[in-house]
Parts: sequence; C-alpha cells; structure tokens
Amino acid sequence: MADKINIITLVENTATKQGLLAEHGLSFLIQTSTGTILFDTGQGKALENNAELLGVDLFSIGTVVLSHGHYDHTGGLDSVLLRNSNTGIYMHPGALKQKYVRNPDGTGREIGIPGQCRESLKRLEKNIVFTEGPEKIADGIYVTGEIPRVTAYEDTGGPFFVDEDCSNPDMLPDDQALFFDTTDGLVVILGCAHSGVINTLEHIKNLTGGKAVNAIIGGMHLLRASDERMAGTIEYLYNLNLKCLCAGHCTGAGAVHELHSAFPEQSEFLFVGKKFSFEADRQFALKQ
Ligand SMILES: [Fe+2]
Ligand SMILES: [Fe+2]
Repeated sequence: MADKINIITLVENTATKQGLLAEHGLSFLIQTSTGTILFDTGQGKALENNAELLGVDLFSIGTVVLSHGHYDHTGGLDSVLLRNSNTGIYMHPGALKQKYVRNPDGTGREIGIPGQCRESLKRLEKNIVFTEGPEKIADGIYVTGEIPRVTAYEDTGGPFFVDEDCSNPDMLPDDQALFFDTTDGLVVILGCAHSGVINTLEHIKNLTGGKAVNAIIGGMHLLRASDERMAGTIEYLYNLNLKCLCAGHCTGAGAVHELHSAFPEQSEFLFVGKKFSFEADRQFALKQ
C-alpha cells in the first residue's frame, strides 16, 4: 500500500484564499501513516484560524519540531501544547536562549520564544527531546540537529544577538531542518535556514551518504545575500537536479525572484494552504 507523506502549509507570509491569515512566520503540518508532525508553529496569531479553515485538527498533533527559537516559528506552541500534553517536542537547547534583533537605531528587540510558550515548554519538560545532533522523529523522518558552517560564501551572521545590548552575536546553533526520503529522493523542510541553505544540504548529504535531493521547501533567509552568495547557492542547487524548489517566508522577494528565474521548471510559490504529497521511502538509516 502506498505510504504517503502529505504536507500542508499552515502559516506563511502570504495567503491567497478567503479567511486564511498571512503572518511573518512559518508552520508546516506533516501527515504520515505513523502520525502527524508539526514543523514550527508561526507567530501564533494565524495557526488556529488557518488550521480550522484547512480542516486540520490541532489535537491530532503527536510531535512538534522547532526549527529554531525565533518567535515567528515558536509563537503558536502554546496553542498546540495546551491541546495535547503528550506531544513530543524536538528542539535544540539553544532555542531556549534569549534572542534579540538589532533595530536600525541600535536598540535590541526581543525575538525569542514568547513567554506563554516558554511556560508551556516548562510544563511539558518531560516531553522535550533536545537535538544537538541528528535525531530520528519517526520511521524515515529525521531532524539535522546543529548544522556545521562549511561554505565560504554563506555569511550566516546577521543582526541577531543573545543580549539586549546587542553585543554578543547569536550564531543560532539551534537552527535545524527536517528531512525524509521518498521514492523520488530526499525532501528537505527548512525553517529559516539561518545556518545557510547549502550548509544544511551539505550536512544532510553527509548524514544520508549522499542521497539525491528531490525537493526543498521553506525559508532560505537570503534577503540580504550578497551576489556571491546567491551565485554560489544557485550553482549548488543547479547541480542537485531538483524536482521542486519552494522557497518562501524569510527567503526575501528578490531572492525568490532570482530562484524562479534560475529554476523556472522547478520553482513553486509558497503560501498558506499550499500542499505537497510524496511517496515515502523509509528504508534508510542515518550515517553517523
Ligand atoms: Fe529566524
Ligand atoms: Fe523566520
């Protein structure tokens, strides 16, 4: 019998149907034959509304994966955790750190996990699996854990800090991606890819023994990417022979446009309600 993995975009920066809410954030529902996984939760203002309109029961979520500790990926956590005290939670310990972004006037603005979501996490501490390294989430479904920064052209810094004075940079070690194998190759789900999308793909290549990549979906954080970084990213992606490239959220409008020009056949737009369906191949184990 076919073993499908279906993905529904619950939160994204754009929405195109009546009643669905767009917000700066990201959340994907991943439905498999062995359970339902929520990858990120958006800011928390759109999740419940969109889930209801898209026919998704938030009580059905068995597992939550956090790509990193920014508010636009974690703010809906309490909506999910208040509904189900058995939900497993996969996150890097660094996601719990205080997180700030530097405003143009030099002051710091808090952008970490919101207070009420921290409370929910504290209450369900026993459900948390910390993912410093790669971790199996379900049969054939994995998170990368911390991603080594190996490319020369991916400047993965940014105006992110761990203190309000903005003097100690946040290197976002908590940034991680989810991936699974399909009959057409790997599917990679990105949160913000603060580690760099190519660093992420290189790490997954090492973890899977070089399995072919079929699809890349999510935020690529290329909004301030240099020409060199864009060129390096496009060249690497070109050599993958992808079937689906669906960049959204924090990728940046200019970068999305460049990717669509470079990959006109493979590129798709990401928006609330966008669905994907893959034929799972759960036969591989991680190379550790
Ligand atoms: Fe982020
Ligand atoms: Fe983000």
